[in-house]
Amino acid sequence: MTAIRTVAPLRMALAAIAGIGCAQAPALAAGGEAAHIERQEWSFAGVGGQYDRNQLRRGFQVYKDVCASCHAIERVKFRNLVQPGGPQFDEEAVKALAAGWDNKITDGPNDDGEMFEREPKLSDKIKGPYKNEKEARSIQNGAYPPDLSLMTRARGVHTDASWYIHIPMMARDVLTGYAEGGADYVYALLIGYEEAPEGFHLAEGMNYNKYFPGNQIAMVPPIPEGGAVEYLENAGAKSSKEQNAKDVTAFLAWAADPSLNERKQLGWTVMFYLLITTLLLYFAKKKIWTRVKH
Ligand code: HEC
Repeated sequence: MTAIRTVAPLRMALAAIAGIGCAQAPALAAGGEAAHIERQEWSFAGVGGQYDRNQLRRGFQVYKDVCASCHAIERVKFRNLVQPGGPQFDEEAVKALAAGWDNKITDGPNDDGEMFEREPKLSDKIKGPYKNEKEARSIQNGAYPPDLSLMTRARGVHTDASWYIHIPMMARDVLTGYAEGGADYVYALLIGYEEAPEGFHLAEGMNYNKYFPGNQIAMVPPIPEGGAVEYLENAGAKSSKEQNAKDVTAFLAWAADPSLNERKQLGWTVMFYLLITTLLLYFAKKKIWTRVKH
Protein backbone atom coordinates (compact mmCIF):
# COMPACT_ATOMS: atom_id res chain seq x y z
CA MET A 1 0.00 0.00 0.00
CA THR A 2 1.40 3.34 -0.90
CA ALA A 3 0.63 6.38 1.11
CA ILE A 4 -0.36 9.29 -1.05
CA ARG A 5 0.91 12.63 0.14
CA THR A 6 -1.31 15.46 -0.83
CA VAL A 7 0.48 18.31 0.86
CA ALA A 8 4.11 19.21 0.47
CA PRO A 9 6.02 18.36 3.68
CA LEU A 10 7.20 21.94 4.17
CA ARG A 11 3.71 23.37 3.98
CA MET A 12 2.49 20.74 6.41
CA ALA A 13 5.29 21.50 8.81
CA LEU A 14 4.45 25.19 8.78
CA ALA A 15 0.74 24.48 9.16
CA ALA A 16 1.33 22.04 12.02
CA ILE A 17 3.55 24.49 13.87
CA ALA A 18 1.05 27.28 13.37
CA GLY A 19 -1.56 25.02 14.98
CA ILE A 20 -3.79 24.81 11.95
CA GLY A 21 -2.23 21.68 10.56
CA CYS A 22 -4.47 18.72 10.30
CA ALA A 23 -3.87 15.08 10.85
CA GLN A 24 -4.74 13.19 7.73
CA ALA A 25 -7.05 10.24 7.48
CA PRO A 26 -5.52 7.00 6.29
CA ALA A 27 -4.92 7.19 2.58
CA LEU A 28 -5.06 3.73 1.16
CA ALA A 29 -4.33 2.69 -2.36
CA ALA A 30 -7.17 0.12 -2.36
CA GLY A 31 -9.82 2.56 -3.59
CA GLY A 32 -9.57 6.27 -3.26
CA GLU A 33 -7.93 8.52 -0.80
CA ALA A 34 -9.75 9.11 2.48
CA ALA A 35 -10.60 12.79 2.91
CA HIS A 36 -9.22 15.00 5.63
CA ILE A 37 -11.11 14.62 8.90
CA GLU A 38 -12.15 17.86 10.60
CA ARG A 39 -11.85 18.20 14.34
CA GLN A 40 -15.23 18.68 15.99
CA GLU A 41 -16.09 20.51 19.16
CA TRP A 42 -16.90 17.97 21.87
CA SER A 43 -18.11 18.86 25.35
CA PHE A 44 -15.85 16.11 26.73
CA ALA A 45 -12.70 17.33 24.98
CA GLY A 46 -9.60 18.74 26.63
CA VAL A 47 -8.39 18.50 30.19
CA GLY A 48 -11.60 19.68 31.84
CA GLY A 49 -14.30 18.49 29.41
CA GLN A 50 -17.35 16.59 30.60
CA TYR A 51 -20.10 14.65 28.84
CA ASP A 52 -23.32 16.52 28.28
CA ARG A 53 -26.03 14.33 29.76
CA ASN A 54 -28.72 15.54 27.36
CA GLN A 55 -26.46 14.76 24.43
CA LEU A 56 -25.80 11.24 25.74
CA ARG A 57 -29.55 10.70 26.09
CA ARG A 58 -30.17 11.84 22.53
CA GLY A 59 -27.24 9.73 21.35
CA PHE A 60 -28.66 6.63 23.01
CA GLN A 61 -31.97 7.29 21.29
CA VAL A 62 -30.18 7.32 17.91
CA TYR A 63 -28.26 4.16 18.80
CA LYS A 64 -31.44 2.38 19.91
CA ASP A 65 -33.60 3.44 16.97
CA VAL A 66 -30.99 3.18 14.22
CA CYS A 67 -27.69 1.46 14.96
CA ALA A 68 -29.02 -1.31 17.24
CA SER A 69 -30.69 -2.97 14.27
CA CYS A 70 -27.19 -4.01 13.14
CA HIS A 71 -24.63 -3.25 15.89
CA ALA A 72 -24.24 -4.46 19.48
CA ILE A 73 -22.61 -2.54 22.34
CA GLU A 74 -21.96 -5.58 24.50
CA ARG A 75 -19.53 -3.92 26.86
CA VAL A 76 -22.32 -1.66 28.01
CA LYS A 77 -24.82 -3.17 30.46
CA PHE A 78 -28.34 -1.78 30.80
CA ARG A 79 -27.51 -0.73 34.35
CA ASN A 80 -24.70 1.51 33.03
CA LEU A 81 -27.38 3.69 31.43
CA VAL A 82 -28.59 4.55 34.95
CA GLN A 83 -25.23 5.40 36.50
CA PRO A 84 -23.97 8.96 37.04
CA GLY A 85 -21.58 10.27 34.42
CA GLY A 86 -23.62 8.67 31.62
CA PRO A 87 -27.11 9.27 30.20
CA GLN A 88 -28.38 8.64 33.76
CA PHE A 89 -31.86 7.53 32.79
CA ASP A 90 -34.41 6.67 35.39
CA GLU A 91 -33.91 3.10 36.70
CA GLU A 92 -37.52 2.05 36.17
CA ALA A 93 -37.45 3.34 32.59
CA VAL A 94 -34.29 1.34 31.84
CA LYS A 95 -35.81 -1.80 33.40
CA ALA A 96 -38.75 -1.46 31.07
CA LEU A 97 -36.45 -0.73 28.14
CA ALA A 98 -34.37 -3.85 28.87
CA ALA A 99 -37.46 -6.02 29.15
CA GLY A 100 -38.70 -4.81 25.79
CA TRP A 101 -35.31 -5.02 24.02
CA ASP A 102 -35.67 -6.90 20.73
CA ASN A 103 -32.50 -8.89 21.15
CA LYS A 104 -33.12 -11.45 23.86
CA ILE A 105 -30.58 -13.12 26.14
CA THR A 106 -29.81 -16.80 25.73
CA ASP A 107 -29.65 -18.31 29.19
CA GLY A 108 -29.63 -21.74 30.69
CA PRO A 109 -29.47 -24.62 30.80
CA ASN A 110 -32.82 -25.04 32.58
CA ASP A 111 -33.81 -28.12 34.60
CA ASP A 112 -34.36 -30.06 31.39
CA GLY A 113 -30.88 -29.17 30.19
CA GLU A 114 -32.20 -26.86 27.50
CA MET A 115 -30.95 -23.35 26.72
CA PHE A 116 -33.74 -20.78 26.64
CA GLU A 117 -34.29 -17.15 25.70
CA ARG A 118 -35.36 -14.58 28.25
CA GLU A 119 -35.87 -10.84 28.50
CA PRO A 120 -32.74 -8.84 29.38
CA LYS A 121 -32.39 -7.49 32.93
CA LEU A 122 -30.48 -4.45 34.21
CA SER A 123 -27.35 -6.58 34.66
CA ASP A 124 -27.34 -7.84 31.06
CA LYS A 125 -25.26 -6.57 28.18
CA ILE A 126 -26.81 -4.61 25.33
CA LYS A 127 -26.89 -7.12 22.53
CA GLY A 128 -27.09 -6.62 18.82
CA PRO A 129 -29.52 -8.52 16.62
CA TYR A 130 -27.24 -11.41 15.69
CA LYS A 131 -26.40 -14.56 17.64
CA ASN A 132 -22.83 -14.63 16.33
CA GLU A 133 -20.54 -13.26 13.65
CA LYS A 134 -21.45 -15.99 11.15
CA GLU A 135 -25.15 -15.15 11.36
CA ALA A 136 -24.35 -11.44 11.01
CA ARG A 137 -22.25 -12.00 7.91
CA SER A 138 -24.78 -14.27 6.26
CA ILE A 139 -27.51 -11.65 6.70
CA GLN A 140 -25.30 -8.63 5.90
CA ASN A 141 -24.01 -9.89 2.56
CA GLY A 142 -20.71 -11.04 4.01
CA ALA A 143 -19.98 -7.82 5.93
CA TYR A 144 -19.78 -7.72 9.71
CA PRO A 145 -21.22 -4.80 11.68
CA PRO A 146 -18.67 -4.61 14.51
CA ASP A 147 -19.53 -4.12 18.18
CA LEU A 148 -19.50 -0.36 18.77
CA SER A 149 -18.67 -0.32 22.50
CA LEU A 150 -15.02 0.56 22.00
CA MET A 151 -15.23 1.98 18.49
CA THR A 152 -14.20 5.54 19.37
CA ARG A 153 -11.08 4.10 21.02
CA ALA A 154 -10.35 1.61 18.24
CA ARG A 155 -10.35 4.25 15.51
CA GLY A 156 -8.48 7.49 15.24
CA VAL A 157 -7.28 10.10 12.86
CA HIS A 158 -4.04 9.01 11.28
CA THR A 159 -1.42 10.88 9.45
CA ASP A 160 0.96 9.70 6.81
CA ALA A 161 3.22 12.68 7.35
CA SER A 162 6.94 12.15 7.87
CA TRP A 163 8.34 11.64 11.36
CA TYR A 164 9.64 15.19 11.66
CA ILE A 165 6.13 16.52 11.08
CA HIS A 166 4.75 14.03 13.60
CA ILE A 167 6.75 15.51 16.45
CA PRO A 168 5.21 19.03 16.41
CA MET A 169 1.79 17.46 15.75
CA MET A 170 2.11 15.17 18.74
CA ALA A 171 3.38 18.01 20.90
CA ARG A 172 0.35 20.06 19.94
CA ASP A 173 -2.03 17.17 20.74
CA VAL A 174 -0.38 16.60 24.12
CA LEU A 175 -0.51 20.29 25.00
CA THR A 176 -4.16 20.66 24.03
CA GLY A 177 -5.13 17.30 25.59
CA TYR A 178 -6.50 16.06 22.24
CA ALA A 179 -7.88 12.54 22.54
CA GLU A 180 -10.99 12.74 20.40
CA GLY A 181 -9.59 11.41 17.12
CA GLY A 182 -11.86 8.35 17.28
CA ALA A 183 -14.97 10.48 17.81
CA ASP A 184 -13.95 12.83 14.99
CA TYR A 185 -13.59 9.81 12.69
CA VAL A 186 -16.91 8.16 13.62
CA TYR A 187 -18.77 11.45 13.17
CA ALA A 188 -17.09 12.04 9.80
CA LEU A 189 -17.92 8.49 8.70
CA LEU A 190 -21.61 8.91 9.51
CA ILE A 191 -21.96 12.06 7.44
CA GLY A 192 -19.38 11.13 4.80
CA TYR A 193 -21.60 9.35 2.27
CA GLU A 194 -21.85 10.77 -1.20
CA GLU A 195 -22.12 9.82 -4.86
CA ALA A 196 -19.05 7.95 -6.02
CA PRO A 197 -16.98 10.17 -8.32
CA GLU A 198 -16.97 9.31 -11.98
CA GLY A 199 -14.57 6.54 -12.86
CA PHE A 200 -14.54 5.12 -9.31
CA HIS A 201 -15.20 1.40 -9.33
CA LEU A 202 -17.74 0.70 -6.60
CA ALA A 203 -18.23 -3.01 -5.91
CA GLU A 204 -21.79 -4.31 -5.79
CA GLY A 205 -23.61 -3.69 -2.53
CA MET A 206 -20.97 -1.20 -1.39
CA ASN A 207 -21.44 2.50 -0.65
CA TYR A 208 -19.11 5.39 -1.31
CA ASN A 209 -17.87 7.16 1.82
CA LYS A 210 -15.19 9.79 1.53
CA TYR A 211 -13.79 9.20 5.03
CA PHE A 212 -13.66 5.40 5.06
CA PRO A 213 -10.23 4.04 4.14
CA GLY A 214 -10.53 2.82 0.56
CA ASN A 215 -13.82 4.74 0.21
CA GLN A 216 -16.03 1.63 -0.10
CA ILE A 217 -18.07 0.58 2.91
CA ALA A 218 -20.66 -2.14 3.27
CA MET A 219 -22.75 -0.11 5.76
CA VAL A 220 -25.62 1.68 4.05
CA PRO A 221 -25.91 5.38 5.03
CA PRO A 222 -27.55 4.94 8.47
CA ILE A 223 -28.77 8.51 8.96
CA PRO A 224 -30.81 10.11 6.15
CA GLU A 225 -30.83 13.82 5.34
CA GLY A 226 -33.07 15.53 7.87
CA GLY A 227 -32.23 13.07 10.62
CA ALA A 228 -33.31 9.57 11.58
CA VAL A 229 -35.20 10.17 14.83
CA GLU A 230 -37.52 12.71 16.45
CA TYR A 231 -36.07 14.29 19.57
CA LEU A 232 -38.28 15.20 22.51
CA GLU A 233 -39.20 18.87 23.01
CA ASN A 234 -36.85 19.24 25.97
CA ALA A 235 -33.98 17.15 24.54
CA GLY A 236 -31.76 20.22 24.14
CA ALA A 237 -31.28 20.09 20.35
CA LYS A 238 -33.19 19.77 17.11
CA SER A 239 -32.89 16.57 15.13
CA SER A 240 -30.89 16.70 11.90
CA LYS A 241 -28.45 14.38 10.17
CA GLU A 242 -25.42 16.18 11.63
CA GLN A 243 -26.98 16.44 15.11
CA ASN A 244 -27.93 12.73 15.15
CA ALA A 245 -24.41 11.80 14.05
CA LYS A 246 -22.83 14.02 16.67
CA ASP A 247 -25.06 12.78 19.47
CA VAL A 248 -24.63 9.09 18.72
CA THR A 249 -20.86 9.60 18.47
CA ALA A 250 -20.82 11.31 21.88
CA PHE A 251 -22.83 8.39 23.26
CA LEU A 252 -20.31 5.92 21.80
CA ALA A 253 -17.45 7.97 23.26
CA TRP A 254 -19.11 7.57 26.67
CA ALA A 255 -19.59 3.83 26.06
CA ALA A 256 -15.87 3.51 25.40
CA ASP A 257 -14.82 5.66 28.36
CA PRO A 258 -17.63 5.77 30.91
CA SER A 259 -15.53 7.07 33.81
CA LEU A 260 -14.28 10.20 32.01
CA ASN A 261 -16.39 12.68 33.99
CA GLU A 262 -15.35 11.24 37.34
CA ARG A 263 -11.68 10.95 36.31
CA LYS A 264 -11.40 14.53 35.10
CA GLN A 265 -13.16 15.86 38.19
CA LEU A 266 -10.86 13.85 40.43
CA GLY A 267 -7.87 15.19 38.51
CA TRP A 268 -8.86 18.76 39.30
CA THR A 269 -9.51 17.92 42.97
CA VAL A 270 -6.08 16.32 43.25
CA MET A 271 -4.45 19.36 41.63
CA PHE A 272 -6.25 21.62 44.10
CA TYR A 273 -5.04 19.58 47.10
CA LEU A 274 -1.51 19.53 45.75
CA LEU A 275 -1.60 23.29 45.43
CA ILE A 276 -2.77 23.70 49.04
CA THR A 277 -0.13 21.22 50.24
CA THR A 278 2.56 23.09 48.34
CA LEU A 279 1.54 26.38 49.96
CA LEU A 280 1.43 24.81 53.45
CA LEU A 281 4.85 23.24 52.99
CA TYR A 282 6.26 26.50 51.70
CA PHE A 283 5.04 28.52 54.72
CA ALA A 284 6.07 25.76 57.15
CA LYS A 285 9.55 25.76 55.68
CA LYS A 286 9.75 29.55 55.93
CA LYS A 287 8.69 29.48 59.58
CA ILE A 288 11.09 26.71 60.56
CA TRP A 289 14.08 28.37 58.94
CA THR A 290 13.42 32.03 60.00
CA ARG A 291 15.70 31.77 63.05
CA VAL A 292 18.61 30.29 61.15
CA LYS A 293 21.09 32.88 59.97
CA HIS A 294 22.18 32.55 56.36
C1 HEC B 1 -28.16 -1.93 8.16
C2 HEC B 1 -27.10 -2.26 9.08
C3 HEC B 1 -26.33 -1.16 9.75
C4 HEC B 1 -26.82 -0.08 10.46
C5 HEC B 1 -28.28 0.30 10.72
C6 HEC B 1 -25.68 0.63 10.98
N1 HEC B 1 -24.52 0.02 10.58
FE1 HEC B 1 -22.62 0.55 11.03
N2 HEC B 1 -21.89 -0.98 9.93
C7 HEC B 1 -22.64 -1.92 9.26
C8 HEC B 1 -21.75 -2.82 8.54
C9 HEC B 1 -22.20 -3.99 7.68
C10 HEC B 1 -20.43 -2.40 8.84
C11 HEC B 1 -19.13 -3.00 8.30
C12 HEC B 1 -18.71 -2.17 7.11
C13 HEC B 1 -17.51 -2.66 6.36
O1 HEC B 1 -16.64 -3.28 6.98
O2 HEC B 1 -17.43 -2.38 5.14
C14 HEC B 1 -20.55 -1.25 9.71
C15 HEC B 1 -19.48 -0.55 10.22
C16 HEC B 1 -19.58 0.51 11.12
C17 HEC B 1 -18.46 1.19 11.71
C18 HEC B 1 -16.98 0.83 11.55
C19 HEC B 1 -16.29 1.59 10.44
C20 HEC B 1 -14.82 1.26 10.40
O3 HEC B 1 -14.00 2.19 10.46
O4 HEC B 1 -14.48 0.07 10.34
C21 HEC B 1 -18.95 2.18 12.51
C22 HEC B 1 -18.18 3.18 13.37
C23 HEC B 1 -20.38 2.12 12.40
N3 HEC B 1 -20.74 1.10 11.55
C24 HEC B 1 -21.24 2.95 13.10
C25 HEC B 1 -22.61 2.91 12.99
C26 HEC B 1 -23.51 3.81 13.71
C27 HEC B 1 -23.06 4.87 14.71
C28 HEC B 1 -24.76 3.48 13.33
C29 HEC B 1 -26.04 4.16 13.76
C30 HEC B 1 -26.17 5.57 13.50
C31 HEC B 1 -24.67 2.38 12.38
N4 HEC B 1 -23.36 2.06 12.20
C32 HEC B 1 -25.76 1.77 11.77
C33 HEC B 1 -24.02 -2.00 9.24
C34 HEC B 1 -24.88 -1.09 9.82
